[in-house]
Parts: sequence; structure tokens; C-alpha cells
Amino acid sequence: MKGKRRLALIGLAIGVTVAVLSLPMILNVTLLQADPDRLQEQPALLAVAALEARPVYRQKCATCHGADLKGDHTIGAPDLTDAEWIYGQGRIAEIERTIAYGIRSGHPKTRNLSLMPTFASAKPYARETLNPLTPTQIDDVVDYILAIEGRTPRSAAAAQRGQSLFLGYGGCYDCHTSDARGDNFVGAPSLRDHVWLYGDGSPAAIFASIARGRAGVCPAWTGRLSPATIRALAAFVYRKSHPPSAQDRRG
Ligand code: HEC
Ligand code: HEC
Repeated sequence: MKGKRRLALIGLAIGVTVAVLSLPMILNVTLLQADPDRLQEQPALLAVAALEARPVYRQKCATCHGADLKGDHTIGAPDLTDAEWIYGQGRIAEIERTIAYGIRSGHPKTRNLSLMPTFASAKPYARETLNPLTPTQIDDVVDYILAIEGRTPRSAAAAQRGQSLFLGYGGCYDCHTSDARGDNFVGAPSLRDHVWLYGDGSPAAIFASIARGRAGVCPAWTGRLSPATIRALAAFVYRKSHPPSAQDRRG
């Protein structure tokens, strides 16, 4: 009798150990089999995946995006908790793709359809012909951006000139669209949402972006992290940028 009970206890212990050890495996298989665009319908799975991703985020991503995911304006690492997306609309599949292949990472599948040209140089853009701008013209465009952001331009006449540069000679509309709301297919950010990748949104910071150009890099993680970990990271970022209260409000 005693021996039987011991045997049963050992059996139970083995069973529990196997179950606990295979939990991450079960989670990974479930994660990978799910349609990433329907994952948000499984909040429990999303929550467990995010829990698994948290230490990986801390180790691989926090140096650039910050421990609080709020980004870093000195290197143009975006805030991953806001509703503003450089690429896509914040769907899990879109976030997952960015994490897997990176942005201007050198991976063949990376996101790299455009860069911010260097308008103060003689040849602003290697990929197509664009007109260089003088410092005065750049200042005019800065004033136009201040105006469309609802801030007071330093000179209304300059903002007016900046508008025609933006929509014509400067070619800004081509990537940022003519209403300056940006194009999240080519990765040109909105210039009127009060969210700045680089610097503090001051006229000097905006001037620097236009004059010297920008080409932020996010590394590719495919091959370095497993597909399940990459999806878990996407779930983590998704949850941080879509807090449950906001989801409730959306219904
Ligand atoms: C070396 C710095 C660096 C590291 C490390 C890094 N990133 Fe990035 N990440 C960036 C930069 C810079 C951008 C913006 C690129 C651009 O300007 O388009 C970015 C963009 C992104 C975006 C796109 C956001 C949007 O608005 O579309 C996501 C998502 C992202 N990173 C997630 C991650 C995750 C998850 C990790 C860790 C696995 C990570 N990044 C590690 C620098 C980094
Ligand atoms: C060929 C496409 C292209 C053109 C043309 C272009 N931009 Fe950009 N711009 C971008 C991209 C892409 C980024 C984001 C770079 C990054 O993420 O590192 C950007 C970033 C910026 C930023 C920084 C935004 C931030 O959040 O910090 C400013 C300001 C800006 N552009 C203004 C302009 C103005 C003004 C013009 C016209 C004179 C212009 N751009 C023309 C592609 C373009």
C-alpha cells in the first residue's frame, strides 16, 4: 500500500513536471498556429505571450526603445506605446514583420522604401532627383510645419512660402503626402501629429532633419530570435500600445 502511494506520488510529480516544462512549447505552438490578425481575440494567449516576451524586450530592445518603450529622440527610436505608427496601423502582423526583418537593417526583406533626403546637400537623394534647398528655404518649410501643427510660425509669410515648397519644389508631399499626415507604407511619418521621432519638435530639430536627412535603423531579429519569440514580442508591443481600457472604449 505504502509503495503504491509512493509510486502514485512519483507519477504525479513526473506528470506535473512534464506539463510545466512543456507549457512554453505548447504556448509557442499555439502562438505560431494562430492567425496573427486574430490573436487580439485571444486576450489570455496574448497576455501569456507578452509575459514571455518581457525579458527578451528588456535584453534586446530596451537599449534603443527604452525600458518603458517610450523611445529615444536622439536616435529616432519611436515610442512603441502610442497610436502613431511609422509602418502600418499597429496590427500584430505588421509589428511582427517590422521586428522580424527590421527597418533599413540590410536584410533583403527589410522595410526600406524611403529615407529622409539631405536637403542641404547638392544631391539630396540618391534614389531619385530632388532639388536641394537653401537654409532660408528650409526655414520657410519649418515655419509651414509649425503652422500645420497648430503652432505659431515665426513668420506667416515664410510659412506661406514653405507651403509652396512643401507641395512643389521641395517634393515633400511625395513621401509625407500633401496633407503632411505621412505615409505608413513608405515609412514617412506624419509631420502634424505632435509626435517627433527626432529631437523635441523645436524649429532647430525640424531644421536638422530636413537639412541633414534621417535614416533610422531597427535591426532584423529573424535568425537571432525564434519565430515564436518574435510573435510574442509583437504581442507584447501590441498590448503596450493597445491598453485594455482603450480597447473597451473602442467596443
Ligand atoms: C539599435 C537600436 C534598436 C534596437 C536594438 C531595436 N530597435 Fe526597433 N527601432 C529602432 C529605430 C531607430 C526605429 C525607427 C526606424 C525608422 O526611423 O523608421 C525602430 C522601429 C521599430 C518599430 C516600428 C514602430 C512603428 O511605429 O512602426 C518596432 C515595432 C520596433 N522598432 C520594435 C523593436 C523590438 C521589438 C526590438 C527588440 C527585439 C527593437 N525594436 C530593437 C531602433 C532599434
Ligand atoms: C523620399 C521620401 C521623402 C521626401 C521627399 C521627404 N521626406 Fe521627410 N522623411 C522621410 C522619411 C522616410 C522620414 C523618416 C526617417 C526615419 O524614420 O529615420 C522622414 C522624416 C522627416 C522629418 C523628421 C520627422 C520626425 O518625426 O522627427 C521631417 C521634419 C521631415 N521628414 C520633413 C520633410 C520635409 C520638410 C520634406 C521636403 C522638403 C521632406 N521631409 C521630404 C521621407 C521623405
